[in-house]
Amino acid sequence: MTNSLATYLSEARLKAWNDAIDERHSVRSYQKRPVREEALQSIEGLLRGFSPLCRHARGHLVVQNASRLFTGFLGPFGKISNAPAAVVFAGEFHLPRYMEAVGYLGEGIVLEATSLGLGTCWIAGSFSRDRTLARIRLDPGWKVVALTPLGYESRHTTLGDMALKALAKSDSRKPLSEIVTGLPRPRWPRGLKGALEAAQWAPSARNAQPWRFRVDRDGVALMADTGDVNLNSMKRLDCGIAMLHFEVACCAAGITGSWRFPKPGIPMIAKYRYA
Ligand SMILES: Cc1cc2nc3c(=O)[nH]c(=O)nc-3n(C[C@H](O)[C@H](O)[C@H](O)COP(=O)(O)O)c2cc1C
Repeated sequence: MTNSLATYLSEARLKAWNDAIDERHSVRSYQKRPVREEALQSIEGLLRGFSPLCRHARGHLVVQNASRLFTGFLGPFGKISNAPAAVVFAGEFHLPRYMEAVGYLGEGIVLEATSLGLGTCWIAGSFSRDRTLARIRLDPGWKVVALTPLGYESRHTTLGDMALKALAKSDSRKPLSEIVTGLPRPRWPRGLKGALEAAQWAPSARNAQPWRFRVDRDGVALMADTGDVNLNSMKRLDCGIAMLHFEVACCAAGITGSWRFPKPGIPMIAKYRYA
């Protein structure tokens, strides 16, 4: 059991993250200038987590030649270009909910970076694992799950960027009617629609949006689209990201509560229980 996120983060930071949810988009081309020192310091302060839900996840900052960590999608197509810095997200892989923790922690860093004017892009596929491992110190029992470049967005959008966005349909999301079930809208608490929209617009691998929500009287349950107990771990990562968006927006709307995890065997990722 954990407390509300509002007990771990300042009101100002929660507001900044809530605003960042609307501004964030994946950035794949960067300006060559380095990231400001104060911005790096803010991000550094979050690398070991900002709430107990981040336990089993950690970020590692890379500030030199970060572009070399990224590879193309097909040859050079889709490669992250000119990133001056990156954060590597790692998880304690023998623990059952480490992927949700990596998603939750990583998205906190992404929203912090966005609020500081930096671009980010979750990358779980097109990076070099060997070059990444050579740049960080990973404890035994931990593995690299994904990375994000960090830097200032380039003013020029490349054809590759446009093609990748079009391929993933990054500018659209499934409608709430497809991802939310349960109580009818007139019975939702005030502000819940906005919180579900914040989750709806979370980033996900290939923009697959594997999250589904059920609005109950005592809270909101989060499941993966397949409803399996033994979930594919990438879906768990995406759901961890959506959990943070939902919770940040709930805090902003005054819907106090916290995430609880189900007993083993129940096909649910977590439930946000109202306080
Ligand atoms: C876990 C995860 C892994 C991702 N991996 C990649 C990747 O390897 N390469 C890439 O170009 N984009 C990757 N993305 C970015 C998604 O394609 C992007 O978030 C999605 O299309 C939605 O677009 P938006 O972030 O601009 O809202 C990934 C996103 C997530 C959340």
